[in-house]
Amino acid sequence: MSSSGLNREKTRTLHPAARSGTQPLAPITLSLALALILVLALAACAESPEPVNFWALELGDPEVGRERIEVYGCPACHTIPGIAGADALVGPPLNGWSERTYIAGQIPNEPDNLVAWIMDPPSLDEDTAMPDLGVAEADARDIAAYLYTLGEGPISPDAGLLAAGDGLPAATGERMAQPVPFSHQTHAGELALDCRFCHDSVTESTFAGMPSTQTCMTCHSQVLDDVPILAAVRLSWENDAPIPWVAVTDLDDHVHFDHAAHVNVGVGCDTCHGRVDQMEVTEQAVSMTMSWCLDCHRDPAPHLRPPDQIFNLTWTPPPDQPQQGAARIQEYEIPLETLTDCSLCHY
Ligand code: HEC
Ligand code: HEC
Ligand code: HEC
Ligand code: HEC
Ligand code: HEC
Ligand code: HEC
Repeated sequence: MSSSGLNREKTRTLHPAARSGTQPLAPITLSLALALILVLALAACAESPEPVNFWALELGDPEVGRERIEVYGCPACHTIPGIAGADALVGPPLNGWSERTYIAGQIPNEPDNLVAWIMDPPSLDEDTAMPDLGVAEADARDIAAYLYTLGEGPISPDAGLLAAGDGLPAATGERMAQPVPFSHQTHAGELALDCRFCHDSVTESTFAGMPSTQTCMTCHSQVLDDVPILAAVRLSWENDAPIPWVAVTDLDDHVHFDHAAHVNVGVGCDTCHGRVDQMEVTEQAVSMTMSWCLDCHRDPAPHLRPPDQIFNLTWTPPPDQPQQGAARIQEYEIPLETLTDCSLCHY
């Protein structure tokens, strides 16, 4: 399986094996705690391989699918990479299938739709030129699994969102397709989970870090433990493969950034990431240009809040913020004179 450079890079830096298992959530029930212990014990015996193509795994066996494609005569009409002699052009070529947004130009390219299409195309589009070939469901699932191994996109579950590999997002409001439709609105908003429950290195390290599958399974081994939208989480767990979360915010490699340095002097998450707790799909809230960084580095006082407000995304500055901010600059000995040095941020 291949994936975009961005995807692979982030998966490596956020490898679950490199993460500690400490979780700061207090009201954890006994059964959850037991589940966590079990999960930690299992995780300790495991080395994680490359991320897998979750859609393919979820559907069926791609190797069986490869054979079935020949049995049902798909090569008579399609060009299909990896299938000997499949170079016909009666129907469209099926290369890069996992990156496609639509099936036959109009049906969202999702696993269930693809299986239905392969079984009986006219049932989805009565005018289509692809005939009903009488493919059995199990065979259609294996064939679909094979097709999803083609191309760079292990994930493009949501038509209209960017798929992995579409390039680095730069502008405000950019969002990425994710392997699981994770919602901060549910977890950080309604369930009010602390950011550190999932991004637990944010106060100690350069990286905030992405949650390991084990963090999700703390709850989802019990809550919604069999729903299809969490299939990728269960597959990640069973196959001991990290979930390939795609980063929304990603600075150029020549720029140095450090979460702990900011969070520990009173810069709150929402100053840079916006109201994440209201986001159904995570977006980049501000465009992180050099001038945006420098605006604060020239005059950080208005942005420095008390330590206990860092994770409170609804914090608003009090009337005496100028005085409080100035006091914090003194207290933390923030070196204002070097905060705009090129070498601070550029290697
Ligand atoms: C007789 C020729 C023929 C055969 C055999 C055939 N197809 Fe097709 N297929 C087509 C045509 C024509 C289209 C375009 C349909 C449309 O756009 O309405 C198509 C479309 C598709 C698409 C959507 C392509 C796209 O670009 O959106 C997929 C996927 C597909 N076929 C898979 C298969 C599979 C898998 C098999 C074997 C089980 C198969 N086809 C067998 C003719 C065929
Ligand atoms: C502290 C417990 C807890 C943790 C940890 C947790 N979840 Fe959830 N999650 C829930 C609950 C409870 C719901 C159900 C919310 C509802 O139905 O109202 C839920 C719902 C969901 C849903 C369904 C869609 C939605 O937003 O309602 C998805 C998908 C999901 N979680 C993914 C994840 C992923 C991925 C992780 C790990 C990064 C994770 N969850 C970690 C408790 C948790
Ligand atoms: C239950 C786990 C969980 C909790 C709690 C949680 N997050 Fe996340 N966070 C995730 C996951 C999973 C992703 C990757 C998927 C996505 O972007 O939606 C993510 C991604 C992000 C990103 C995107 C980073 C990037 O790529 O640019 C930001 C920013 C973020 N979280 C901030 C927060 C903040 C702030 C809080 C607390 C208010 C929080 N998160 C709480 C699980 C969590
Ligand atoms: C001063 C601005 C700033 C603050 C404050 C900040 N972040 Fe970030 N965050 C960034 C930048 C910049 C990146 C991208 C880093 C990169 O690409 O090297 C990022 C990336 C992330 C990521 C993606 C994974 C990673 O580690 O790169 C997560 C998750 C995240 N932030 C969560 C948080 C949380 C939670 C908080 C609050 C505790 C927070 N951030 C506070 C600027 C900030
Ligand atoms: C809202 C204010 C604010 C924003 C926005 C901000 N910073 Fe900072 N940054 C600070 C403050 C305050 C410090 C001083 C921290 C200290 O002295 O420990 C700092 C320190 C740093 C440091 C030095 C870290 C260290 O190890 O001493 C780097 C590097 C840095 N910022 C990079 C960035 C980059 C890159 C951006 C934009 C993506 C950015 N900052 C955006 C307030 C901000
Ligand atoms: C507070 C952090 C910070 C400081 C200090 C800083 N830069 Fe930058 N610089 C950035 C960020 C962030 C970017 C944009 C990276 C991106 O787009 O991902 C950037 C981009 C650049 C670029 C590339 C421009 C481009 O269009 O990609 C150059 C050149 C550059 N900076 C030079 C400098 C010079 C010279 C100085 C000293 C006068 C300096 N920077 C000081 C954070 C900083």
